[in-house]
Amino acid sequence: MLPPASKLPGFVNMLRWMADPDGCLERDAARYGEAYLMKSTLFGVEAIFNHPAALKEIFTGDPERFAAGEANELLGPLLGDRSVLLLDGAEHLHVRRMMMPAFHGERMRCYTDVMRESTARAIGSLRPGDQVGLHGLFQRITLDVILNTVLGLDEEGPELTQARHQITHLLDRVQAPSGALWMIPTLRREMYGYGPWASIKREIEALDRTLLAHIAARRALSVEKDDVLAMLIRAVDEHGKGLDDATLCCQLKTLLIAGHETSATAMGWAFEELLREPGEQERLMAEVARVTGTAPLTAEHLPKLERLDSVIKETLRLHPVTGAMGRILKKPATIAGYDLPAGTFVVACAHVTHRRPDLYPEPLRFMPERFVGKKLDPYEWLPFGGGVRRCLGMAFSLHEMKVIMATMLGAGIELRLVDRGPVKATLRSLIYSPKGGTKVVVRARPAKKAAHSATMSPSIPIE
Ligand code: HEM
Repeated sequence: MLPPASKLPGFVNMLRWMADPDGCLERDAARYGEAYLMKSTLFGVEAIFNHPAALKEIFTGDPERFAAGEANELLGPLLGDRSVLLLDGAEHLHVRRMMMPAFHGERMRCYTDVMRESTARAIGSLRPGDQVGLHGLFQRITLDVILNTVLGLDEEGPELTQARHQITHLLDRVQAPSGALWMIPTLRREMYGYGPWASIKREIEALDRTLLAHIAARRALSVEKDDVLAMLIRAVDEHGKGLDDATLCCQLKTLLIAGHETSATAMGWAFEELLREPGEQERLMAEVARVTGTAPLTAEHLPKLERLDSVIKETLRLHPVTGAMGRILKKPATIAGYDLPAGTFVVACAHVTHRRPDLYPEPLRFMPERFVGKKLDPYEWLPFGGGVRRCLGMAFSLHEMKVIMATMLGAGIELRLVDRGPVKATLRSLIYSPKGGTKVVVRARPAKKAAHSATMSPSIPIE
């Protein structure tokens, strides 16, 4: 038996999704239920599921049957076909195992200072009355963090400037509002070097050259470094074999791209929500002041920031950044009682799961307290996907978001949203971003409220 199916043609579905990415998922689920088929320009037929039991079947299914790498194939031209995101089976496990130690929870404390200082630098020039787009600000911070922690670029200079410029420019191109179009293979025409795809391709090649040169310089270096690249260069498998330069380059590109825009977007959504909620900013500021006292923020403080932790979880519930995860069936499978043929593109629709009223009462309300003391169910809360493909950077990004947000909340400023009207999501490639870039006005924090947090580093000069 097959699930119910929408009759709309694939290109109409693609246009609906591009125009209103989250609204479209919610309307389809309201109409067709917790399992349905949908035609897709990119993937043929999609079988879309949102019940946690179905998601469990997808994420715990045999990876040889549920291929994630093949489902991510459209990202190949950008990330390279050796990227961990694009590999399947034994090759995927091999590369993922080599990368895992750099993202293990224990390693996170090494990254705290970089995250705090990058935030301090970025907000250090803000003045009361300034209007700033938080999404752009977070992009700058998370890009600096990832360039430092992954490539070891920790000093202002031509190398850092070039890498920063190349990645920002490339992402601006591939994440333009027409973003998803470059992923359609028939639209990737070079047109004798003059088409839009040809110039994106030149930018990808330039970034590859930069990364390969960086890898070569690193291999020639006699001093040991402690960043992710150093760990990847040292990593060997059970046969003593390491990653070759081309494979290494694909992983660096994946980490630099997957590892900054995602966290920046999640923090944009967090401030969209917390600044709308009366008293939430003040509650969080008070928590940061109570936990850190007069000391600069360290990794030891983070487990005590319980309200902030709940705010981040609730943000990722309402806005999971990527709305859904895909797998291609390499063999027939039965999901939620429905028999699906090989070749079906299976979608685990986290966005809709996260808004199911049976799992989350009043699902559209931002209520961080629903996560206080709650043990997370991996098939009810899954912004980072699941199973053997769960996001490699999950611990990194949760740590990073806490450090960046706590540093901002302890900096002696208050933020106010410029536009308090309802905010919609807009697509930046596959990322669901808050439309408008989360514009805020910076205000000096009244002296009484600021007293507790005055010693946080750095404090914004108040005029
Ligand atoms: C809020 C931030 C982030 C979100 C919401 C997010 C979400 C995701 C999702 C949904 C997947 C696919 C999981 C699946 O198919 O089941 C994924 C994979 C991945 N993410 Fe993240 N991510 C975030 C941050 C990061 C960061 C900071 C890094 C690196 C520093 C990173 C690196 C990766 C990698 C390498 C994969 C591929 C894993 C594999 O295929 O084995 N992500 N992420």
